[in-house]
Amino acid sequence: LMAEKGGYKHFMLKEIYEQPRAVADTIAGRLQAEEGDIYLEDIGLSDEQLQQLDKIFIIACGTSWHAGLVGKFYIEKLARVPVEIDIASEFRYRDPIVGENSLTVLISQSGETADTLAGLREAKGKGGKTLCVCNVVDSSIARESDGVIYTHAGPEIGVASTKAFTTQLVALYQLALKLGRVRGLLTADQCREQVEALLTLPRKLEEALEIDGHVEEISREFMNARDFLYLGRGNQYPIALEGALKLKEISYIHAEGYPAGEMKHGPIALIDEQLPVVVLVPRNDTYEKVVSNLEEVKARGGKVIAVVSGDDSELIDKVDAIIRVPEINDDLMPLLTSIPMQLLAYHVAVFKGTDVDQPRNLAKSVTVE
Ligand code: G6P
Repeated sequence: LMAEKGGYKHFMLKEIYEQPRAVADTIAGRLQAEEGDIYLEDIGLSDEQLQQLDKIFIIACGTSWHAGLVGKFYIEKLARVPVEIDIASEFRYRDPIVGENSLTVLISQSGETADTLAGLREAKGKGGKTLCVCNVVDSSIARESDGVIYTHAGPEIGVASTKAFTTQLVALYQLALKLGRVRGLLTADQCREQVEALLTLPRKLEEALEIDGHVEEISREFMNARDFLYLGRGNQYPIALEGALKLKEISYIHAEGYPAGEMKHGPIALIDEQLPVVVLVPRNDTYEKVVSNLEEVKARGGKVIAVVSGDDSELIDKVDAIIRVPEINDDLMPLLTSIPMQLLAYHVAVFKGTDVDQPRNLAKSVTVE
């Protein structure tokens, strides 16, 4: 079994470390850097159909839904198509307004999640187009969708999803670029610039993984907390949700992800000396606003673990722990900030002695409603 785990103590840790390779494999063959174009072999929709789309639905469960929340930012920003995102079990019973020019994008690692499959059938039944982002070749969702963008993460064994998530972000980014090109919103030069940024990802992920030992120390310090709060804004808000989900899934510590700007409308009441607050604060347009949220936490005695980018030194004296990720463009930053979210949850769980790869009550793939 140790061999299967490639020398790692758990599948989850192995899969965390496989991310540079998984992301590189998901990028491979799809980028036409010279032409400034994206090639999605099995998209199943003609350029004309992509041009005619008037609305996109994204449907998923769990971690895949968090990827979808980031995907909405990508598609609306790069292709200017309105995106609605739903949790699959909600979508299917709300009589969604799906028309022939709407595209429903299903995101599923396994391709077998019952609620997501039902969402796909609902969208198809209403005459809409369907496309999935999926990690398992020939799975039910891949077979029944009109088109598929495979993530090439390789088999994911740990119940808590890691490499499937980051490769889903890559696939959604590729979809957004493709739509942006086909719909005339991105020039070849603009697309080429994004493609070049994508190509730097594997190396940046390697670099991001170098903080592992430091995150382990921080985990030891905070492992006895009863609750955790995670704050992020914009495309970092889904990463806050994902960080909180990872922690509760495998360490059984209650954790909540919240949009940083919304903290004052509720979670601020929870802050005291016992509460660690993970704040995602890479350099971007809302940096100052998130810093002021972080100061509000400190003013109430909360413990702040800040995730910053590059050589940011502004926060060193303001927070209790700092975790650094490399600089990259704002769209791709969620992939890098995901790394400390995964490692923090992993190390806390290991310190607590839980069954990291097979947490209680959870299943890798939920094939019942
Ligand atoms: C289960 C797993 C999660 C996963 C979710 C959706 O809850 O434990 O890790 O995110 O299902 O799975 P899918 O295969 O559809 O992405």
